[in-house]
Amino acid sequence: MLTAARATVPLFDYLAEARRLAIDEIKRLVPAGHECGAVLYDLMLDYPLRDAKGLRPALCIATSRALGGGLEATLPSAALLELYHNAFLIHDDVEDGSELRRDRPTLHHEHGVPVAINVGDGMLALALEPLLGNLRTVGLGKALRIMQTIARMARETAEGQAMELAWIRDGRWDVSDDDYYRMVMKKTGWYSFIAPITIGATIAGGSDAHLATLVEMARELAVAFQIRDDVLNLTASYGKESCGDLWEGKRTLIVLHTMRSLPAASRAAAQAILARPRPTPIAPSRRALLARLELEGEISARARALLEGSDAAKTADDVAQLSQWIDEHASIDYASQIATEHALRARTALLRAELRPSAHHDVLQALVDFTIARET
Ligand code: IPE
Ligand code: IPE
Ligand code: MG
Ligand code: MG
Repeated sequence: MLTAARATVPLFDYLAEARRLAIDEIKRLVPAGHECGAVLYDLMLDYPLRDAKGLRPALCIATSRALGGGLEATLPSAALLELYHNAFLIHDDVEDGSELRRDRPTLHHEHGVPVAINVGDGMLALALEPLLGNLRTVGLGKALRIMQTIARMARETAEGQAMELAWIRDGRWDVSDDDYYRMVMKKTGWYSFIAPITIGATIAGGSDAHLATLVEMARELAVAFQIRDDVLNLTASYGKESCGDLWEGKRTLIVLHTMRSLPAASRAAAQAILARPRPTPIAPSRRALLARLELEGEISARARALLEGSDAAKTADDVAQLSQWIDEHASIDYASQIATEHALRARTALLRAELRPSAHHDVLQALVDFTIARET
């Protein structure tokens, strides 16, 4: 289907096939039956095999094919983008202390933080193979340009993550909407949109003019996509913990809007809630032991709470209070409106690129609408 010259390809079929092709490539990279399988290689397939959209391989393939590139030449790059994505997600879930990914417990919750970090590192190491393989499939010049894009992408992602982590760690609230856009372009935009589209255009040998307009589309889509993600986080059940961003103290566009809309006293209360850590997971045996010690009068209730780490942690009531403030100030509508504006600008940029009509061009157009309409 991804080789079709011109047909109306339903977006979800295109995404599913792009993802399947990328996963097939990833499976070829991951050794089977290795002595480290159980703590390394088998776990590299855990996240990729969970249900996901396949956005990055689809963007890379659709861009390349829309500009006349070949599917075979694009597949290694599509796979390495999906591999990077999944490795970033494993590390991101540790960094954010997240509980759910794609409707299942996060890798570090299932296998522990040390193993999860190492699996992510291993996936990043494996990604070097398709990068080097490109020398054979697309030639030295294009392979080097792809490597440059990936090198920049990896740095931008780490910087975006660092910015967001620092805001939370340092209790920063002097964060403007523009700071949010800058952070989002780095943490999500580069690896999810700019790199897939740039690499697709590079493989096809697209002109500088095409590349510039498509990157403009990518930048607009990136902001729209992340804002939609922030909205879904508060309103939908989409495979991640409900209101995870509030539990994690994220400075989303929605939360920034609520903060500036709240009266000073409530703003201070909201900031205090967001600054509290989420409850630390505690082993059931330890919880039972502490409960028994309290029952037997060995420790007080306060000592038990302190030892459980639950005394200073956020509660479900705290998160409900934050959600109420967000609703009262229509912050979700505010952010959704901005996401729509960015998607419209993305659509205009794609029109200006004046690509030849093709099924792949249709998919790029459909992806623009999907970015703000998606429910997953
Ligand atoms: C999730 O990306 C991480 C962000 C950049 C917001 P996706 O929404 O593309 O995740 P999957 O691959 O479909 O699970
Ligand atoms: C997305 O991180 C960016 C990376 C994974 C590098 P987020 O923390 O915003 O995304 P979710 O909500 O965990 O998917
Ligand atoms: Mg996260
Ligand atoms: Mg994160």
